[in-house]
Amino acid sequence: MSPISRATLESLDRNDPLRSFRDKFALPKGLIYLDGNSLGALPSASVDRIRNLVEVEWGRDLIGSWNKNGWMDLQFRIGEKIGRLIGALPGETIVADSTSVNLFKTLGAALRLNSNRRIILTERGNFPTDIYIAQGLADFLGGQHELRLVESDQIESAIGSDVAVLMLTHVNYRSGRMWDMSRVTTLARAAGVVTIWDLSHSAGAVPVDLGHAFADFAVGCGYKYLNGGPGAPAFLYAAKRHFERLAMPLTGWLGHAAPFAFETDFRPANGIARARVGTPPILSLVPLEVGVEIVLEATIAQLRAKSVLQTDLLMRLIAQELHPLGVESVSPADAASRGSQVSLRLPHAWPISQALTARGIIGDFRAPETLRLGIAPLYVGFSELWDTVAAIKDIMISGSWNQPQFLTAPSQVT
Ligand SMILES: Cc1ncc(COP(=O)(O)O)c(C=O)c1O
Repeated sequence: MSPISRATLESLDRNDPLRSFRDKFALPKGLIYLDGNSLGALPSASVDRIRNLVEVEWGRDLIGSWNKNGWMDLQFRIGEKIGRLIGALPGETIVADSTSVNLFKTLGAALRLNSNRRIILTERGNFPTDIYIAQGLADFLGGQHELRLVESDQIESAIGSDVAVLMLTHVNYRSGRMWDMSRVTTLARAAGVVTIWDLSHSAGAVPVDLGHAFADFAVGCGYKYLNGGPGAPAFLYAAKRHFERLAMPLTGWLGHAAPFAFETDFRPANGIARARVGTPPILSLVPLEVGVEIVLEATIAQLRAKSVLQTDLLMRLIAQELHPLGVESVSPADAASRGSQVSLRLPHAWPISQALTARGIIGDFRAPETLRLGIAPLYVGFSELWDTVAAIKDIMISGSWNQPQFLTAPSQVT
């Protein structure tokens, strides 16, 4: 294969069908932002939308906004839009709470659906909150459940008729490795295992078809590739075929069949509405809708096509420029098994990530020596990939990472 040059990447930028989408984001000029897998960029339209929400809807219309400005329906309306990105049928997705809380809710509901089994299966390398929520719920249920943690290559063989729930994150936060959802869900279904997929690193970045895979439940973050803003509410999907038997472990008043009847006893609402708990955070929901609409406009197929090309090129560039310096890509070489990020293993990853930040290139660091480069194809350009690799190379060769301001103790953000 011939070496990649900056000129090749510049020409890809010129011909990029998604190029104009970058202008929909208020990114600082000159900044290379490779952390959209952690916190998505700010859509410019969110600024006016939030101002109107605060000044007009809250400031002027006050409590009347719950009906007049559609606040009461917002969780469903945005849920429908996210549902289109993840292969849900209408009425199967809602926006509510955080991903952690939605994991608790779906895991509780899934265990009820399979109440004669006691094992929750997941991979050891899953995101910690997924594991902690399962540990906490198992403890809370009296210690009769077992959380079985296995290596990812052991998952398929661990699926068996003793397992109640298989809980996996579709795209791994550290390596970017992507499960074959359809294959794993089919295996689980054949063994009578209920599935929960965490789509935090998938929604808005890779095509997902929960319906086609016959997945039972899913959850995911609104603040990563969906660009909903820091701490944006999460989404929750439940397959319609479970609605009749769906019992959520958090039964708040908004999940009631008639919240404003103020009855003494809980009666679950029909369908996905029973996954609501309490009053939704309107100030955080509104920008999420803006972010999701941009993804829908770009189409997930176009986003995936660009992301695959970008992650492929980035991995080739890393091999070409950085391999001699001891840098390795740890993301899967096969695009079909890779989400929208490339992770590198390299010596001095923390001070190098700090030195990159000082040059206006934002990736992130995961202990002990991983540098994650998130590819949000809505706003990451091809030439930026070249500039990032060139900067890492220069920082390593010059040793400029070896300065007191970069040698601080690692700090982490999600
Ligand atoms: C796979 C996965 N699940 C869940 C979370 C976080 O969940 P929460 O929004 O509840 O903090 C993250 C955060 O990075 C994540 O990567």
